[in-house]
Amino acid sequence: MKSFEFTIRPAKGGDADNICDLLDEVAAEDIYILTEPGERTVNHIKGLLQKQFSNRNLLLVVDNYGDIVGVLGFIGGAFKKISHVAEMGMVIEKNFRNAGLGSTLLREAIAWARKRGFRRLELGVLSNNRQALSLYKKFGFQEEGVRKNRYQVDGEWVDEILMAKFL
Ligand SMILES: CC(C)(COP(=O)(O)OP(=O)(O)OC[C@H]1O[C@@H](n2cnc3c(N)ncnc32)[C@H](O)[C@@H]1OP(=O)(O)O)[C@@H](O)C(=O)NCCC(=O)NCCS
Repeated sequence: MKSFEFTIRPAKGGDADNICDLLDEVAAEDIYILTEPGERTVNHIKGLLQKQFSNRNLLLVVDNYGDIVGVLGFIGGAFKKISHVAEMGMVIEKNFRNAGLGSTLLREAIAWARKRGFRRLELGVLSNNRQALSLYKKFGFQEEGVRKNRYQVDGEWVDEILMAKFL
C-alpha cells in the first residue's frame, strides 16, 4: 500500500477532474460500481458539486497530498415524502483500500447526515462485492432486498443488494 497523510473534506470545484479520474479508475476494475470508464463526465461531477450548496447533497473526498484517493456522495431525496432519505455511494482508490479509510469516510458522512436531519441512508451494492457488503454491515446497514440480474458485467448477470441504515 502507498504511504499517505490524508484529509477528509467536502469537495471543491477544482476537484472535479480528480474525482472523475478516480471514478474512471475504479470503473475500469469492472466489478464494483455501476459506471464504466468515461460514463461519468467532469460536467456531471461539476453539477453535483454545485448542488452541494443546497445542504441536501454532499461530496466528501479523501485528499492525499492533493491527490483525491476516495470520494463519498450523498444525494438527498428531492421530494417532500422522501426528504428524510439520502442515497449514497463511495469509492476508495485500489492502493489505499483495507486501511480504514472507507470506514473513516463513512463515519464522517453519517455524522453529516445526522446533523442535517436525514433519517434513512440507502444504497445498492453488486452482490459479489463482499468488501463493500461487509463495510456497510459493520456500520449497521441492513439488507432490504435483491434486484435480480440488475447488472450485466462481462456477459454475466449480477444481482443488486439493496441496503439501508436508519439514523
Ligand atoms: C468498499 C470500499 C469503499 C471500502 O473502503 P476501504 O477503505 O477498503 O474500507 P475499510 O478499510 O475501512 O474497511 C474494509 C472492511 O472490509 C473488510 N474486507 C476486506 N476484504 C474483504 C472481503 N473480501 N470480504 C469481506 N470483507 C472484506 C475488511 O476486513 C474491513 O473490515 P474491518 O474494518 O472489520 O477489518 C473500497 O473497498 C472500494 O472502494 N471498493 C471499490 C468500490 C466499491 O466497491 N464501492 C462501493 C460500491 S457500493
